[in-house]
Amino acid sequence: MTALLIHDVRTLVVVPPGPLAGRGMRDIPTVSGAAVLVQEGKIAWFGSAVDAPSPVGAARLSAHGGTVIPGLIDPHTHIPFVGDRSQEFVRRIAGETYLSIMQSGGGIRVTTDAVRRATHDELVAENLPRLGRMLSYGVTTVECKSGYGLAPEHERKQLEAIRELAGLQPIDLVPTYLGAHALPPEFDGRQDEFIESIADPVFLAELARAGLARFCDVFCDRGACTVAQARRVLERATAAGLRLKLHADELAQIGASRLAGELRAVSADHLEQIDDGGIAALKASGTIAVVLPGTSFFLGIAHCNARRLIAAGLPLALATDFNPGSCMLESLPWIMNIAACQLGLLPNEVLTACTANAAAALDLHHRTGAVAAGFDADLAMLDAASLEEWFYTPGRPRVRHVLKRGQVVYSG
Ligand code: NIG
Ligand code: FE
Repeated sequence: MTALLIHDVRTLVVVPPGPLAGRGMRDIPTVSGAAVLVQEGKIAWFGSAVDAPSPVGAARLSAHGGTVIPGLIDPHTHIPFVGDRSQEFVRRIAGETYLSIMQSGGGIRVTTDAVRRATHDELVAENLPRLGRMLSYGVTTVECKSGYGLAPEHERKQLEAIRELAGLQPIDLVPTYLGAHALPPEFDGRQDEFIESIADPVFLAELARAGLARFCDVFCDRGACTVAQARRVLERATAAGLRLKLHADELAQIGASRLAGELRAVSADHLEQIDDGGIAALKASGTIAVVLPGTSFFLGIAHCNARRLIAAGLPLALATDFNPGSCMLESLPWIMNIAACQLGLLPNEVLTACTANAAAALDLHHRTGAVAAGFDADLAMLDAASLEEWFYTPGRPRVRHVLKRGQVVYSG
């Protein structure tokens, strides 16, 4: 593989490897007039262009006076899904809530019905263009969850679709098993039996062994799993060799983030309703707090107080939560703008949350999410003079090139 020299970089944003907390999320150095040398798919050198090495035969790629950042990482999506719930969206605008729609038979069950009916090929075909668009926003790694099958065979079908999608396009996909996402109708009134059916140790071990899942997640909230049920699933997942995530404290405070801390989950996600006990538990376990402001935006509920989490010293990541019910927003840059304009996060904090810390939420922080020698050359090249200037123009497509392990995989 030949070397590649990225030159004419007006601003290189040197995000260090994660996880980063407190002021570390904000104190991000930049190099003006920079260059980056990529070799064997890795960042081999970066710095001021005047000092740039020029290996014989290196290809050159101009940043045209733009900004270079690490490729964005979306550590929480519900890809793959099929179907449409736009009527629920309209009902919410008219005053109903996510919970009341779920309790009247809508919500996750509607998508479960569609996913159970879909073939493997349909799941792949409907979700491939979504990943193509994410790439065009500068995203180079995406976490994908099952959770709309709610029965082992259909959960496996979703995870197999993720595996196929991973081979069909350049974004790295990290698969998560979310069998305990909602109670399917055939288990009405028999929630504990349902939990047994999707947390079968043999099935979990198979998923882990086949590499179909790397993480296990549970929706632990009012109207979903109890803390005791989530504990049962997650303890078995740990025994099977999966790492842990938890949908915690989204709709109500039932102790989910404390459970995430206790079980040393890699991440606890949502956290709109987190309390001091939850914050202390996450801090003690080094769990990444994944905040999903697209969901609160889309549902019209109060945002998570992300500033409080940063002040408490939690490493904070951001994600889309892209799903057909609570957040049909696939654009991570849009989420980043919501985080800046409505959660009061500074551009550097937002970028850290979507790169170094998002990598840590996927346990990939030793390899990606940073501008550091030896790291994967996963980079987004922006038509913007600086990070601040990019944030200043929400909604304007400004991604010129995306590199995945040193290959140009998208050009705008
Ligand atoms: O993260 N909270 C649970 N799961 C999703 C919503 C899934 C859906 O409504 O389809 C979420 O918000
Ligand atoms: Fe989610």
